[in-house]
Amino acid sequence: MPTETVYGLGAALDNETAIAKVFSVKARPSDHPLIVHIADESDLRFVAQEVPLDALKLARSCWPGPLTLLLSRTTNVPLSVTGGRATVGIRVPSNEFTRALIGKLEAPIAAPSANRFGKVSPTTAQHVCDDLGHDVDLIVDDGACSIGVESTIVDFTVSPPQLLRPGGIPVEDIESILGYSLQLHDGLTRASGMLETHYQPLCQVVLAYDIEHATTLVSELKSAGKRVRLIHGSSNLPVYAATLFSQMRQADRDQIEAVVAIIPAPRGLGMAISDRLRKAAGPISLV
Ligand code: TXA
Ligand code: MG
Repeated sequence: MPTETVYGLGAALDNETAIAKVFSVKARPSDHPLIVHIADESDLRFVAQEVPLDALKLARSCWPGPLTLLLSRTTNVPLSVTGGRATVGIRVPSNEFTRALIGKLEAPIAAPSANRFGKVSPTTAQHVCDDLGHDVDLIVDDGACSIGVESTIVDFTVSPPQLLRPGGIPVEDIESILGYSLQLHDGLTRASGMLETHYQPLCQVVLAYDIEHATTLVSELKSAGKRVRLIHGSSNLPVYAATLFSQMRQADRDQIEAVVAIIPAPRGLGMAISDRLRKAAGPISLV
């Protein structure tokens, strides 16, 4: 199903068979929890037990949109969805079709990104088809995702709240709504998006500080005989975010061996972009 961030692989929250299929199709370990998508804020109490006032404040300003709140779950959320945890990630996606679908189903939809585990997230229906085409029942094509990086995850089960994953809503925006700074996560790998490598294409991802550095790296890699390409869009963060994953996928399709990407300053969307790039590059990146 389409969302404004990336395409999701959905299962109704009350359908254990479909939930199990999501894990098997993605080849996702069963202890990696899924985000629960609700149609609007009024469904929050159905899935979350305690909703701190600050969490509600964020929900009211950012939903529908790319913000996931981590809260304590109600028994309406099966443990299969939360990977056995007492907490659940919840968001209201802004895609109209998907919200209407949740409404018609009369059940929230648990959905991870619709890619195989550890690979680059899909931002078009074609990407989903390329990855999972034979293994899913239906792909709804609503064009390219407008944001292109996954939601920002904020954990409200700890105090003060922590940022678990930078994403489509800049941390600065969240902090200005809350009126205080978010803590960075405490080092426990609680979100798979927090593993050191994730979002990896087949080609090597080489990181550059700026355009000069990138140009040098491109010529060095070319001289070493590699098929290399520069990832474009870094001067415009919304465009960079919206096209990053599809450029990585295109490079793989074109059998490019290495892509060079400029790491943006960690401000605004730059924080999520730089997080995804570092994870795509893996532990041995140049920057
Ligand atoms: O933008 C998005 O969030 C997209 C679209 C489809 O909504 N979804 C997405 O899902 O990125 P996924 O499964 O690829 O990433 C969800 C992240 C994972 O890193 C997962 O570990 C974390 O959220 N997460 C979900 N529930 C959690 C929980 N209860 N505790 C800790 N982390 C959780
Ligand atoms: Mg994912």
